[in-house]
Amino acid sequence: MSVLVEVPVVAGPVLSVDGLDVTVSGGALAVQGVSFTLGRGEAVGLVGESGSGKSLTCRSALGVLPAGCEVTGGRITLGATGSGAPTELSALTRKQWNAVRGRRVGAVFQDPASYLNPSLTVGRQLAEQLRVGRGLPRAAAHTRAVELFGAVGLHRPDEVFHQFPHELSGGMLQRVLIAIAVSCEPELLIADEATTALDVVIQAEILELLARLRAEQGLALLLVTHDLAVVAESCDRILVMYAGQIVEDGPTAEVLAAPSHPYTEALLRVASLGVWGRRELDIIPGRPPEAGAELPGCRFADRCAHTTPQCTAGPVALYELGDGRRARCLRPAASGAAV
Ligand SMILES: Nc1ncnc2c1ncn2[C@@H]1O[C@H](COP(=O)(O)OP(=O)(O)O)[C@@H](O)[C@H]1O
Ligand SMILES: [Mg+2]
Repeated sequence: MSVLVEVPVVAGPVLSVDGLDVTVSGGALAVQGVSFTLGRGEAVGLVGESGSGKSLTCRSALGVLPAGCEVTGGRITLGATGSGAPTELSALTRKQWNAVRGRRVGAVFQDPASYLNPSLTVGRQLAEQLRVGRGLPRAAAHTRAVELFGAVGLHRPDEVFHQFPHELSGGMLQRVLIAIAVSCEPELLIADEATTALDVVIQAEILELLARLRAEQGLALLLVTHDLAVVAESCDRILVMYAGQIVEDGPTAEVLAAPSHPYTEALLRVASLGVWGRRELDIIPGRPPEAGAELPGCRFADRCAHTTPQCTAGPVALYELGDGRRARCLRPAASGAAV
């Protein structure tokens, strides 16, 4: 069963994040000047240690920041559609958000059970989304829901329709959430650690499903993960975050073959020690600064083997290195690579 839809040909990125600042409760600037774009149909992997600001970045693009956290700088823009102009998300009212979230941007998170209503069948929850989001009448929503459950690889989708969340495994629940997330044919799917809690085999199946949906629906994917191997397999580009900032950005193969930022290098070094398991990013010696800590220079300086007095003297820019690569480091910039 296919979920094939016609993808309108529109120029420009699906998502542009430009100088995003997020302030958390207590006043710390936990996301600092994050800028990146996501092309149509492109898959971008967002990696970094826990606490680096990945989820706050994703949640800003969905208008679902935790209580006490707010966007205090920058812009997030959804690209133009066939007929409409670009949509600046920070300017949206609550009602306008409802036309974006779940419709133009879908999302899946780590803990699918907590995003489902435990007292309603999963079929009813998907059908409701189709009724509200796509205006389908009840019978058509039911038929489409069963079809979508089949398309995301759930066996006996007509039976799954009548099951409650507690009757399904974690992998099945994640498929249900993916079906809900893509049901309104969004341009962008944000998957924040969506496979982290699943065992390796199920994780691989879910990643394969996301890749297939991407190919069929032409959706762009922002994939947040701890796992560099996941990015290597599934993403065109990699964005590396450290202590609230983007420190490296570029085509996945090139960045992983020859990282420009010492933090990316460190991630790769520990990832290659596969014996430590799949959450290797947490074992780089030293600790990142507190979220929002005000430091004069490079935020990685006290964990870096190459630190010079210049690194801590003042803010380090995200230098353009050519070939679609950027790094927030003086070394590649000074070696003449900067353009
Ligand atoms: N609800 C919150 N209240 C206060 N601080 C928060 C909240 N959520 C996140 N933070 C802070 O912002 C930082 C980044 O969080 P997050 O984006 O969730 O990191 P990641 O997803 O990369 O693990 C955290 O280290 C934490 O200090
Ligand atoms: Mg997170």
